[in-house]
Amino acid sequence: MKCLRFMWLPCNRNGVRTQTMCPVSTSRSTQQQHKQLSNGVCRYSTTSAISHCTALLYREHGDPTQVVQSESMNLPNVGETSVFVRMLAAPINPSDVNMIQGTYAILPDLPAVGGNEGVAQVVEVGSLVKALKPGDWVIPRDAGLGTWRTAAVLAEEDVISLPRDIPLLSAATLGVNPCTAFRMLADFEDLSPGDTVIQNAANSAVGQAVIQIAAAKGIQTINVVRDRPNFTTLTDRLKAMGASHVIKEETLRRLEMKELFKSCPRPKLALNGVGGKSATELLRHLQVGGSMVTYGGMGKQPVTVPVSALIFRNVSVRGFWVTQWKRDHSEDEGALRSMLDELCSLIRQGKLTAPACSEVDFQDFSTALEKAMQPFTSAKQVLIM
Ligand SMILES: NC(=O)c1ccc[n+]([C@@H]2O[C@H](COP(=O)([O-])OP(=O)(O)OC[C@H]3O[C@@H](n4cnc5c(N)ncnc54)[C@H](OP(=O)(O)O)[C@@H]3O)[C@@H](O)[C@H]2O)c1
Repeated sequence: MKCLRFMWLPCNRNGVRTQTMCPVSTSRSTQQQHKQLSNGVCRYSTTSAISHCTALLYREHGDPTQVVQSESMNLPNVGETSVFVRMLAAPINPSDVNMIQGTYAILPDLPAVGGNEGVAQVVEVGSLVKALKPGDWVIPRDAGLGTWRTAAVLAEEDVISLPRDIPLLSAATLGVNPCTAFRMLADFEDLSPGDTVIQNAANSAVGQAVIQIAAAKGIQTINVVRDRPNFTTLTDRLKAMGASHVIKEETLRRLEMKELFKSCPRPKLALNGVGGKSATELLRHLQVGGSMVTYGGMGKQPVTVPVSALIFRNVSVRGFWVTQWKRDHSEDEGALRSMLDELCSLIRQGKLTAPACSEVDFQDFSTALEKAMQPFTSAKQVLIM
């Protein structure tokens, strides 16, 4: 049977690890692979127990529902410094969709496996692997890993372990959105209990993490969402997470905002995941000297900054990209580790839950991709392998 051999090489010029695939023949029978899997994880091995995996691959950029297909791919043996992992769950994030469409800032060479986030379980480790052991849960350290597949052989340094006492969906969705929320709350303004943060796309996975991390620190949040038929249900859900206020986009332009600021201070920090008018309105409500951090552009409109906001209220307009943060701190093991520890501690205390998720069987990826691109779904599609 002709298949694809699949492994990772160092970063290419686009900043994404190169996924190298070439046709080879499979060497072990499916029956043998299943037998070895059902025996459970191996303590240590230099040869992989499974010779191939199923991956969601795209050979050209375009509409994800058209260009992504399920293919069988060969896996290399486990080298001395590599690990063989079985993927457990992986979400479909907007950046995954943009990568497939070819519109994201970093693009892997084609063909490529979709997915930048997810949790896997280590099945085997090479003889020189120090930090990981079979049974460990791991998540990618960087973007571009291609997580939409059933198994992979990876370099040890491509992944970082997570404790196994957190829910699977929290682990699968921890590395991108909660980390983004955590950094934006920590790195731009000195926030104290009682301070206020305003954000749009508040029901996004980032937004839900912002609400919960802020609430855990005693920071109030004004959460802006698009109007929808089930606005009250969504409001109740976000308030149950710790949202102080939930308002519609149009309320940002109304006098009601003056009333709202009688009960809480004007925000020091605005978090913008939308752009366009929504971002401009967030800026108008910032306190003097406050910052707006743009991390997403779901509305696909540029950010317009009123001149008065710059001159008379001296606001700062900044941007944040968690991939860059991770790369900037790649030599500082403690930075990523301590953030993950803090997030896992919040999860254990029940203060940080996974975003609302729809768990989808891996083979139903096509439906999941379609749903992930629809508006007002309010649920992250997570592929279960
Ligand atoms: N810079 C970084 O490091 C970083 C890290 C993580 C995520 N992001 C970005 O952050 C954004 C959110 O990601 P996520 O995974 O949290 O998203 P998500 O859970 O899939 O949710 C998408 C959100 O975008 C909103 N939305 C979609 N189209 C919109 C439009 N035209 N106008 C206003 N709102 C719109 C949705 O609101 P409705 O419910 O109203 O449809 C929903 O709140 C994405 O742009 C993503 O690429 C950036």
